[in-house]
Order: sequence, then C-alpha cells, then structure tokens
Amino acid sequence: MPITKPEKTIIKEIEEERPPYPAGLLSRQQKDLLIERAARSLYRWYTTRSQKTRNWHPDQSFNWRALRTDHSPEVNTVIEGVFGIENYAPDYTSKGIQMLRKSYGRANFQMRWGAEEEKHSDLWLNCMLFMRFRTPEWIEDYMQYLREGEWNLPWEDPLHMAFYVVIQERATQLTYLNIARLARGENDKPGFSESADPVLVEIAQTIATDEAAHYNFFLEIARLYLYYYPAQTLDALVDTIEHFGMPSVHLLPDGDKFRDALYRSGIYGGREYAHDVLKVALKNLGVNNRRALERGIKRSRQAPDPDGHLRDTAFFDGFEYDVVETSVKRLYGRLKEYEKEVGLDEIIPSEFVPSGLSVN
Ligand SMILES: [Fe+2]
Ligand SMILES: [Fe+2]
Repeated sequence: MPITKPEKTIIKEIEEERPPYPAGLLSRQQKDLLIERAARSLYRWYTTRSQKTRNWHPDQSFNWRALRTDHSPEVNTVIEGVFGIENYAPDYTSKGIQMLRKSYGRANFQMRWGAEEEKHSDLWLNCMLFMRFRTPEWIEDYMQYLREGEWNLPWEDPLHMAFYVVIQERATQLTYLNIARLARGENDKPGFSESADPVLVEIAQTIATDEAAHYNFFLEIARLYLYYYPAQTLDALVDTIEHFGMPSVHLLPDGDKFRDALYRSGIYGGREYAHDVLKVALKNLGVNNRRALERGIKRSRQAPDPDGHLRDTAFFDGFEYDVVETSVKRLYGRLKEYEKEVGLDEIIPSEFVPSGLSVN
C-alpha cells in the first residue's frame, strides 16, 4: 500500500482542531495536594511575618488617653459600625475552620487569622470607650444586641469562600485606609472634615496593614485554585462578585445609618467597591475584563482532551491565565526561600508543578 503524505493544509487543519493540551495533566488528587502543601507552607511563612512585623496589642500599643472625645456624630457612627462588624470574629473564625477542617494549612491559618480579627474587635471597642460618645452601659447593651445575631457563611463551599474573603479583606482594608485618611484631616465631606486625630490615624493604619496581609494570603490561595482549577474557579468568582455584600451589616441595630455614613463620607460605597475593591482584586486575579469573562464562562467551561475526557480549558475571554501562572511561580519562589531559611527545603521542599494548562 503506497504511503501518501497528507497535504500540508490537512495537517494544519488537524493541528488547529487539536485541543491545546499537553500530555500529563494532573489528577484532581494531585492538584488538591499541591494546593494543600502550598497553603501549609504559606501559612508558616505568614505566621513568621505576622509575629515579626504586626505584633501589636489593642490595649498597649496606642495612646488611648490622647484619643479625641469630640468627634462628629457621623464619625462616631462609623466607629460604632466597624466595631459591630469586627465583633463577629468568633463566628467568622469558627465557621471558616469548620468548613476548612480537612485542610491542615488552611484550618490552622483560620485560627491565626481569627486571633488577628479578634484584636480588631478589641481595638474598635477601646476606641468606642475612649471616644466617650457612648456610655459603657450603652456599649454593654449594644454588645448584647450584637451577640443575639449570628453571622453565617455566605457560601458553603471553600471555592466561593476563597473569593469572598479576597474581596471582603480588600473592602475592609480600603475602609480602614479611608478612615485613616479622614483622621489625617483629608476628608472634606460635611460631618467628616474636622476629624483630624493622630491616635485614630494610628489605629486605622494598624488595622489596615493587618487587612492587607489577610488580603494577600487569601489572594495567593485564590490564585492557586485559579491555576489548577481555572474553569470551576472562574465560575465561582463570577458568582461571588455578583452577590458580594459587606459582612454583618444586616446584623447591626442600625445598619442603614452606618451604610449611609460610609457612603456620604466616601469611605465605602458602590463607587469605592467598583473602583478600589473589585477592580484591584480582579487585576490581581488575572481578570482583565469582567464582562467578557462572564460571557466566556457561559460559552466554554470544559472541552474534550485527545482521549475524549472532559478537561478544564485555560482559555477564557477576559482572563489572563499566564498572569496567574507567573504569580503562582513567584509564590513558590517565596516559599522556597522561606523553607531554605528554616532548613525545611532539605526535607519537604515546595516545588512548583505546572498545571499543564498553560498555552506557553
Ligand atoms: Fe478585621
Ligand atoms: Fe481581615
């Protein structure tokens, strides 16, 4: 039988139709283990850094007696509200731990994270007490009211929660950065313009730095998911964005008043959410066009590989897979350095394993 050489155009056609998957894709189990190992190592890196650089105490680290006692009612409303939100730290922590209990790294991180969130609650409580706009008895009643409410997870699965916490931490960070701005006397909105207070600057900046660290931890976790499970993860991301709301505002006795004060002061509202929260978080997650991403997800979730199995595709309009890959590689670089410092690199080094989904 004569062997005929296929025409170039036919080869080209076949090549074009071949799904762009390299051999040796990782199994679900392998991916899960990679994410778990990286989370574990990142958690150790995080706690080292946290102890070294953010070891403040809500009572001891601030000059409480120098805090202003004549802030405007609007500023008082903001402080009362942020205390109310941070006051649910036990709910945030316990429910997160329960959801993540099978992941050693993430469940343990959750405890440390909770301990840091608890300090925020104490810090704002001190702030309320020392600002003296409420009596200790009033604050006692307020706390009891808050305790009657209970915060529940907005999503029951770790994937959605991975994004929820990214957005939520960025939103809180922004809120505190804007409170610090106001306390530097840089807010000219009515009711907020006479708010210069150096102690409040320090308080808000200290918390904002914690929130930035939380944001970064959760961002790395979200990127690991995006890298190894792009399709499901992007789906979850779009869902989370659509339904995001600040935690616990509905549990406050006067959540509308608080929301209104945040909005009027420009500390946090729809505009800030869109520009300074969502846009920033999405960029960090490799999403360059949210609308295109939403359309893309609806079009192609999975495609068959050469063996006929359905696989994730790494090709989505509006999403730059390579950006995520670069970030994940950078994360591994950081983990390796840390492990080397300790000596863990000689026993259980974190090694970057390509997902096999990259186009490059
Ligand atoms: Fe916080
Ligand atoms: Fe936080």
